[in-house]
Order: sequence, then structure tokens, then C-alpha cells
Amino acid sequence: LPIALAAAAIGYLLGSIPFGLILTKAAGLGDVRSIGSGNIGATNVLRTGNKKLAAATLLLDALKASAAVWIVGYFLGNEAALIAGFFAFVGHLFPVWIGFKGGKGVATYIGTLLGVAPIMVLAFAAVWLAVAFTTRYSSLSALVAMLVIPIALWILDAEKVAAIMAIMTVISYWKHKANISRLISGTESKIGAKG
Ligand code: G3P
Repeated sequence: LPIALAAAAIGYLLGSIPFGLILTKAAGLGDVRSIGSGNIGATNVLRTGNKKLAAATLLLDALKASAAVWIVGYFLGNEAALIAGFFAFVGHLFPVWIGFKGGKGVATYIGTLLGVAPIMVLAFAAVWLAVAFTTRYSSLSALVAMLVIPIALWILDAEKVAAIMAIMTVISYWKHKANISRLISGTESKIGAKG
């Protein structure tokens, strides 16, 4: 149990660093939470018009979760690494530092996946890109990819990882509820559009 707790704490601490917020503030773009969807993630950072900053947000929000998996995995083993990856995701969605109002977890999901099942990041990317090219919806692309990943892992007999990723998918879907209603009503903003 102490190992699980340490893994969870390290994961949470790394995951709860809100890179989108930090980078946009550092770049003098103001508070990303006051534009677009109000989210702190890369998709909303892109709505500032700064593509490099959006890419950096995606990368850092992903790599903080991978780092949690790699660091904890190195010192405490595979089981603890999976716990750390899960809690990095939780930390991103519910960061204590900003009133528990975090992001939707797409980048962090990819980062955890990179840590626990690296090859599956290619599957995530393929699905995300296919949906994004055809629909231009970032949220829908992520929602479809996050549905495919646990199923693919389960088919490949990675049952424990599949179960954790499935729980993360459910939590992220819940965080996307406003996006889902906008997708249904046809009012979701498309990639490249500001607002
Ligand atoms: O990938 C993040 C996306 O799913 C939602 O971002 O800012 O459009 O709500 P946003």
C-alpha cells in the first residue's frame, strides 16, 4: 500500500501541473480559461492563435504523465507505474492548485498510454487524425480514439491496462459533456476556428 500511495502522489503532483495555463500566461496571452471553451488544454490554447504554444501544451501535458509512468516504473515497478499514470490523468483533470478545475485529459491520456503501452499511441494518433481530417472536431476525434484504445488493448489481452484506460475514457467523456451536447446540436467549434 505505501508503494501505491507514493505512486499515486507522484502521479498526481506531475499531472496537476497546468501547462496550458502556465504557458499562455508566460507568453502574455492572458488567462486561457477566459477564451473559447474555457478549457486549459491544447485545443483551447490553439484558439489563442499560437500554434507553437498549443503544440507545446499538448507535448508537456502528455509528457508529464509519461514521466510519472517512467519515473515510478523505474523505482517501484510496473504495477505502481500504472497507478502513477492513472493519477497523473486525475491530477490533470482535478488539480488542487486551480480549484480542481482542470482539463479534459486528452493529452494526459496519450501520455499515460505512451508510458504503459507505447505502441498504442500510434493507434490513438491514427484514429484521431482520421476523425479530425474528416470532421475537423478535436473533441470528437479524441472521444472516438479514447473509445478505440481500451477495446484494442482488451483484444490484445492487455486486460489490466485496458481496464485502467477504460476508466480514464469514462472520466474524460464525463469531462467532455459540454462538447458532446455541442456536437449533438451541431454547435461544436471546429479546429482552425477561433471561439
Ligand atoms: O482535445 C480537447 C478537446 O477534446 C476539447 O477541447 O477546448 O474544444 O473543449 P475544447
